[in-house]
Amino acid sequence: MKTQVAIIGAGPSGLLLGQLLTKAGIDNVILERQTPDYVLGRIRAGVLEQGMVDLLREAGVSERMEREGLVHEGFELALDGRLEHIDLKGLTGGKTVMVYGQTEVTRDLMAARQAVGSRSIYEADKVALHDLKTAAPYVTFEHKGETFRLDCNYIAGCDGFHGVARKSIPEGVLTEFERVYPFGWLGLLADTPPVHDELIYARHERGFALCSMRSPTRTRYYLQVPSCERVEDWSDERFWEELRRRLPTEQAEKLVTGPSLEKSIAPLRSFVVEPMQYGNLFLLGDAAHIVPPTGAKGLNLAASDVNTLYRILVKVYGEGRTDLLAKYSEISLRRIWKAERFSWWMTSMLHDFPDNDAFTKRMQQTELDYYVGSEAGRTTIAENYVGLPYEDIE
Ligand code: APR
Ligand code: PHB
Repeated sequence: MKTQVAIIGAGPSGLLLGQLLTKAGIDNVILERQTPDYVLGRIRAGVLEQGMVDLLREAGVSERMEREGLVHEGFELALDGRLEHIDLKGLTGGKTVMVYGQTEVTRDLMAARQAVGSRSIYEADKVALHDLKTAAPYVTFEHKGETFRLDCNYIAGCDGFHGVARKSIPEGVLTEFERVYPFGWLGLLADTPPVHDELIYARHERGFALCSMRSPTRTRYYLQVPSCERVEDWSDERFWEELRRRLPTEQAEKLVTGPSLEKSIAPLRSFVVEPMQYGNLFLLGDAAHIVPPTGAKGLNLAASDVNTLYRILVKVYGEGRTDLLAKYSEISLRRIWKAERFSWWMTSMLHDFPDNDAFTKRMQQTELDYYVGSEAGRTTIAENYVGLPYEDIE
């Protein structure tokens, strides 16, 4: 088998890159370890920055999002029982975010790929990358018991945090930066109307809580829980009761509860590798970096990596600009580190850190109070939340 770009992983990074490349006439093959249903079964993020929305439009996969997605012009911070509004649109000169689930983005991208007939191989086993430093890298894998070889010019490692791509880079090449937080998020999905028309990020002495949504009839709520917590110990009743305690009285009284469709615990982590490339292998999305979900940046960072590599590859194949390939990592990392900073900051401001002393707790409270009480502070929060601009490629 032969292609121009071999893409490992059919999450949002791999599918969006594939769609854009196909549209630009660059042949690509996606190798995915799981089945399509398994990929679609994962409940993940739900807030798209303007830049990602525009990229989905450019990829020709925005039709359902335009129809069903919810444009949000602001969000709320719940601090000490009161709501503080962050007017995203007003503070950023008109920018907004789109509330549309990652699962739906993935579904739309899968359908688009099927419609254009680009090759995807699901249930690809034992994917291995070879000759990355040469002009003729290749990928081997097993599918339905048979072994295959895929020759290519470039490999895009879009296979998430636990994937094979990053692990294929020899030891000593990458530097890892990591912070693991002493808590996770317990998430619950339900067919209930949202408690509020905007997202609410709540700081509370019992721990952080987030009220999000997928549609006017489907909600996604999260509770900060200690890392050791087990999802089996959280009945729906216990979840709703704890959420009520962490919300301002007005919202707690309005909260509509119902049976959960899904419940899971995700650990919180900040992680970056440098560089994000090795020879003709490029890492994108969760394969190269993780952010804690507090800033809603994980999916959006995947999109900005895709934007960068896609624009570089278009110039490589269209204009012979192979010199740009060496810049992929530094361009991507500039934006990634800023999103890492914002996600870390939001996490630090809004969560209860059990080991913080009384002084540190007051500093945390005061810093956030200062930010929300100042136009400059709210602007800083807003411009990061809607997403910092993508860099132009020359
Ligand atoms: N071979 C082939 N595919 C693999 C392998 C492998 N060895 N290892 C992992 N994969 C697949 C996974 O099954 C998954 O479908 O790679 C895909 C990676 O998808 P994601 O984890 O969703 O990562 P990414 O596409 O970078 O998406 C960005 O943003 O909101 C965040 O974490 C959230 O998933 C989201 C991410
Ligand atoms: C979600 O809807 O799943 C969601 C929204 C905002 C976040 C994190 C997750 O910051």
